[in-house]
Amino acid sequence: MRTLVCSKCGSTLKVEYSDQVPPSGIRLPLHNPSASITLGEGNTPIVELPQSGHITGLDRLFAKLEFANPTGSYKDRGSAVMMSAAVEYGATEIVEDSSGNAGASVSAYAARAGIQAHIFAPESAPPAKLQQISVYGAKLHPVPGPRAAATTSARTFVKEKNLIYLSHTLSPFFTEGIKSFSYEVATQMCNDLPDHVVFPVGNGSLFIGAFKGFEELVKQGRMPRIPRLHIVQSTSVMPVVSAIKNEPWSLDMADHTVAGGISVVDPPHIHRMGPIVEATGGDAVAVSDESIVRWQKILAEKEGVFAEPTSSAAFAGLESLIQRESIGRDDTVLVPVTGFGLKDAPPH
Ligand SMILES: Cc1ncc(COP(=O)(O)O)c(C=O)c1O
Repeated sequence: MRTLVCSKCGSTLKVEYSDQVPPSGIRLPLHNPSASITLGEGNTPIVELPQSGHITGLDRLFAKLEFANPTGSYKDRGSAVMMSAAVEYGATEIVEDSSGNAGASVSAYAARAGIQAHIFAPESAPPAKLQQISVYGAKLHPVPGPRAAATTSARTFVKEKNLIYLSHTLSPFFTEGIKSFSYEVATQMCNDLPDHVVFPVGNGSLFIGAFKGFEELVKQGRMPRIPRLHIVQSTSVMPVVSAIKNEPWSLDMADHTVAGGISVVDPPHIHRMGPIVEATGGDAVAVSDESIVRWQKILAEKEGVFAEPTSSAAFAGLESLIQRESIGRDDTVLVPVTGFGLKDAPPH
């Protein structure tokens, strides 16, 4: 629980199971899953998006409404498992840093578990996300400056107070919780499995967790193959796209983006994402703020789906991926709508 990176090489850790993969069903790294901390996360709906399909030229475009999770974002899948592991470990007070959604999610699950949470978030994060953190009774530590400053402050606080750093970006328990996304896709879309899944990517916990879930499903014989997994970032902050596609981008080029949830300049799992894109035949693309805002409007006005900008970025990316023929017009495509629009609403 306290060890988040390898003490020798500094790289992030993965959960490995020593016994055989069971023939069906998700396996989680918990000793007592029946006592786990849950708020009913998961089992989010998948809906067809006919208008957006028409605009992009796709016959079969589907969205998994991850904002239907208890705190309004996909993060609850990871928080449920991470917090359950923290309870098993005997944690009573934890520290986390976040651009907002993970902080809100961890706060809710900490409240449920009776654990005191300290959440470090940029003071410039959307007010609704900061309010949500406080509502659950977590101690909010607003940090001036960019997202990375919140991480630095959290780490300093952990050292000073000798607390547990329950970082959702580093904890392998969080990634394991995300696997449920893929298990649901396999069940809900069993008659028309997606050829592609398009993700908004910051730290990559959703992307990596979903891959792990799909990998298990293929090993269990429940899916014939892993869908092509695609990465979307903002042109303002695109370290992963730059690393995968050799596109010019460096830290000093980082700029503000409306997609705050994917504004991560130095993702710790960056080395794990390129191989996943390659292994699944996916692609990686960066999109402008203009196209992100345009897609937030399209989704709301044409589909009744209110996504936050970080989530609509995936649809802007989808459009580019179709244009560059990484996604064919006859293919079945799934996009997770990762966070609810009211968390980061446009000014009216
Ligand atoms: C709504 C939303 N979508 C996507 C992401 C990106 O997730 P990850 O950092 O796991 O790549 C975030 C991260 O905060 C988010 O809040």
